[in-house]
Amino acid sequence: MRLLVTGGAGFIGSNFVRHVQRERPGWEIVVYDLLTYAGDRRNVEGLDRVSLVVADICEPRALDEAVAGADAVVHFAAESHNDNSLHSPLPFVQTNVVGTYHVLEAVRRHGRRLHHISTDEVYGDLALEDPARFTPETPYNPSSPYSSTKAGSDLLVRAWVRSFGVQATISNCSNNYGPYQHVEKFIPRQITEVLSGRRPKLYGSGANVRDWIHTEDHSSGVLAILERGRIGETYLIGADGECSNRRVVELLLGLMGRPADDYELVDDRPGHDLRYAIDASKLRDELGWRPRYGDFERGLADTVAWYRENRDWWEPQKAETEARYEVLGR
Ligand code: NAD
Ligand code: DAU
Repeated sequence: MRLLVTGGAGFIGSNFVRHVQRERPGWEIVVYDLLTYAGDRRNVEGLDRVSLVVADICEPRALDEAVAGADAVVHFAAESHNDNSLHSPLPFVQTNVVGTYHVLEAVRRHGRRLHHISTDEVYGDLALEDPARFTPETPYNPSSPYSSTKAGSDLLVRAWVRSFGVQATISNCSNNYGPYQHVEKFIPRQITEVLSGRRPKLYGSGANVRDWIHTEDHSSGVLAILERGRIGETYLIGADGECSNRRVVELLLGLMGRPADDYELVDDRPGHDLRYAIDASKLRDELGWRPRYGDFERGLADTVAWYRENRDWWEPQKAETEARYEVLGR
């Protein structure tokens, strides 16, 4: 198997590359990544049977050549951060919508299998006390420029399956955490704020709930769908990890030896989704997938340890990221 992984130098993509390299030792992996501010060649450097093509998914010629040489494509490449999409939406339209169009056209031309990586945010949000969770039948109702462009990309994939017979599957996953996550995102931002001698920053009241999954469990779900998923189907990936932002910060502060209330409340994110929750029954029942990192506190402790031990990795991103937050007042 020769696998092309778009966005494979980013957080989830590079964890997926390492997962596949371990679990499928005979496979050859080509990472196709533009190395935007969110991509880092060090994330995939020195891995056996892994090579890197630095190029844009919106560049059809380079993409076509890469897809032609692959048996299957897993498409992670995206602009991924909600706060950035509120400040500057155009790159989200370009990469997430137009880029996915180019990926679809390339796999159509070459008759290649595609797995498209998406997000639970396409379904909008849920009320805090609502017993409901997202299922593959939940209507799309995205809130932000980021989630609406991801929703658009999913709809393109569905149309290319139906109209052109493209052999594709889609997965919509909840919030990932783990090593190699950019410090702009919630959990690494708070860990690195504490490691930098500052306080965590909670948006609004901190009551918003996210459904956390370790990125390793996301990877095993994607591999199961790639190998055994039914073409044209959508699978939701989640590990029953609902937790309020305030609780996450309290857990992190406890793990880092600081008082549980040693955080700041800052301005809320405009349009801030209240709660996400995933029902992953289809993936569990149909493909027998099970998460292995069920203990969130243990996973957080490992993640704190990773950021403590890898200052060289995150320190170069930190000042610029905080300068961007300063402009947003968050
Ligand atoms: P990330 O921002 O860490 O990584 C994105 C990668 O895509 C980077 O390496 C970047 O260089 C690359 N990229 C961006 N634009 C590109 C372009 N035009 N051409 C080629 N490469 C480009 O993102 P992430 O958090 O790892 O998310 C990966 C995917 O998973 C995204 O599709 C995202 O929507 C989805 N997702 C993320 C989460 C999460 O919690 N982070 C949850 C569910 C789904
Ligand atoms: O649900 C899946 C999505 O999860 C992915 O599709 C996105 O790519 C990914 O970025 C993530 O989106 P969120 O907006 O949920 O993640 P973020 O890490 O930006 O924020 C998580 C929660 O924490 C959210 O409620 C906002 C809040 N927050 C965030 C930051 C950066 C804070 O309270 N303080 C912060 O400093």
